[in-house]
Amino acid sequence: MPAARHIEEPLRALNAICPYYTMFPLEFPLRVLRGRAEKGEWVVDPFCGRGTTNFAARLLGLPSVGVDSSPVAVALTQAKLADARVSDVVRVAVGILDAMPSRVSVPQGEFWERAFESSVLRQVCWLRKELLRDCSSDSRLLLRAILLGALHGPCTKSAASHLSNQCPRTFAPKPDYAVRFWRERRLEPPVVDVVEVVKIRARRYLSERPKQTATHVVLGDSRAEGVFGKRKFRWAITSPPYYGMRTYIPDQWLRNWFLGGPATVAYRPPEQELDHGSAEAFADDLRKVWKGVAANAAEDARLVIRFGGIADRDVDPVELLKNSLKASGWRLTTAVSAGDANAGRRQATQFVHGGPAPKEEHDFYAVLD
Ligand SMILES: C[S@@+](CC[C@H](N)C(=O)[O-])C[C@H]1O[C@@H](n2cnc3c(N)ncnc32)[C@H](O)[C@@H]1O
Repeated sequence: MPAARHIEEPLRALNAICPYYTMFPLEFPLRVLRGRAEKGEWVVDPFCGRGTTNFAARLLGLPSVGVDSSPVAVALTQAKLADARVSDVVRVAVGILDAMPSRVSVPQGEFWERAFESSVLRQVCWLRKELLRDCSSDSRLLLRAILLGALHGPCTKSAASHLSNQCPRTFAPKPDYAVRFWRERRLEPPVVDVVEVVKIRARRYLSERPKQTATHVVLGDSRAEGVFGKRKFRWAITSPPYYGMRTYIPDQWLRNWFLGGPATVAYRPPEQELDHGSAEAFADDLRKVWKGVAANAAEDARLVIRFGGIADRDVDPVELLKNSLKASGWRLTTAVSAGDANAGRRQATQFVHGGPAPKEEHDFYAVLD
């Protein structure tokens, strides 16, 4: 297995295919696994987000399972584990767009008119429709993730890298706010060569391709019985939502729309959301997940959790997490500070748009009880 420090930068490029609101750095799971994990040992992340743990496992030649309740997270994780040549991904994009009919139905309203130039919007909608119809090949999984990454972001003076009018990259703005912003500044959506954007991005992420490993990615609730299948895991490395963090899907509503979701922001909490009603209820829900992982764990399995808190909840995240591990099948061995949550690219670093401020993050290490 390659030592993590020997994994060249270009091999890691795929990890950046699309930003995700809260993510931990690739170095974190690499550090846990490097030099310790043996060939063939399965790795799991029950809250896999954009698939950082799964991609680290792939870089080290390890098989992995990822579970997440967000369609955006699952689409990104699937892409991190896929493999295709640049030319194949571009060929799929060109093939889909060549077959575009003259009439394509697009969502209506001022947001959509101002977010995307009309011909770009038609192409985005057609690509969306085609990829919803069939996303079974690795080339299509990678194309879909490239488009998710390009869907919204800043406009630059040089060649366009995003398809939208001026937007943040990590989260989608709320429609009313975005329309006001564009109107007041007279910002027009750019005319973008969609295939060119795909080509540039495919080259960026796929010029070096790490070897594929066995994987299983599940769109589901990690509290559910049987969600992890039948494999025995030696490593579980994860970062659950922080208590009070409930905006994973609304903050990604545009990407979620591209994956078949509604063309509006849904504020209703998703069914799979953990219970944020109280710290005790939240810890109980986490405990269900730890129990499920324990039921599938090899004898000498390790569970590593990064967890923090947000300032508007007056709860000690360390106590909450310790509580969740009680009677979970796991015994806590170590809890250490991950350092200042604003240093490096830790998950709370992404709290940049006036959301709740992060508290310090901690790493928890546990063994089977
Ligand atoms: C902190 S993020 C994980 C980020 C990940 N470590 C990364 O690097 O991208 C937590 C994730 O938990 C997911 N999640 C929330 N509730 C869930 C549930 N009941 N089952 C599975 N995933 C859930 C969210 O959608 C989110 O992607």
